Amino acid sequence: RVLRGRPLDLAGRRVVISAGGTREAIDPVRYIGNRSSGLQGYALARTAVARGAQVTLVAANVALPDPAGATVVRVESAEELRAAVLSAGADADVVVMAAAVADFRPAVRQDLKIKKTDGEPEPIRLTKNPDILAELGERRRAAAPMARSASPVAVAGSAPGALTSSDTPEDVLAQGSGPRVIVGFAAETHDVLANGQAKLARKGCDLLVVNQVGENLAFGTPDNAATVLVAGGEPVEVPRGPKEDVADAVWDLVAPRLT
Ligand code: CTP
Ligand code: CA
Repeated sequence: RVLRGRPLDLAGRRVVISAGGTREAIDPVRYIGNRSSGLQGYALARTAVARGAQVTLVAANVALPDPAGATVVRVESAEELRAAVLSAGADADVVVMAAAVADFRPAVRQDLKIKKTDGEPEPIRLTKNPDILAELGERRRAAAPMARSASPVAVAGSAPGALTSSDTPEDVLAQGSGPRVIVGFAAETHDVLANGQAKLARKGCDLLVVNQVGENLAFGTPDNAATVLVAGGEPVEVPRGPKEDVADAVWDLVAPRLT
């Protein structure tokens, strides 16, 4: 598909998109993963490039060719994805979390391959992963009065909290103003709108793209159908069609929020 005829309404904007699905190591040869193909995130990256954006694509375990014109950062686990998104997101205008991030990871990663024994296997204990989208929302809320005020003391770089090379991604994000627009994704199987609205509020994002899963939609298919929930606005329905259509519907809602 040639991406012609799009407005250059993201020209000069820095956009970070996460795509694919994380893998959480159990031992050197095994992991807990999910069915995300990365197709929706890659469609977001291609369309954002076509609309003029400077795109960083944080790709978790995606078997797709790099989109032309985007910077691709490859990650495996949720923790790696978090570090990459927070560091690229620090000076971004927009962050879109299209990746399927594992909610849990094995509490212990075994250094040696787990061997089969005569008895029953040991259960794998899980621990919670950080919620990257919620963290982006919280950090923006916390930074808002400082970073966005007209006060001259809030000038970045010259303040006492100026960056040093030893800063962690969270330091970097805490000191920048962070993304102006934050977009989340959610796959819901039931009570789509009610669950989606609750999630939008809980995560503190501006847009939440709710996929209708089932009926051969979403995972691994070129087509998608979605409802985009808008903080403080009416939901936008995107009828079943190529994943580029969902992507363009997202950018149509993002672009006016950046002016
Ligand atoms: N997400 C994230 N970090 C996580 C889990 C999810 O950033 N640890 C992001 C996803 O990338 C997506 C959004 O949060 O943009 C919603 O993910 P979803 O799994 O639907 O939400 P959860 O809060 O994990 O709720 P649940 O899985 O229980 O429905
Ligand atoms: Ca989840």
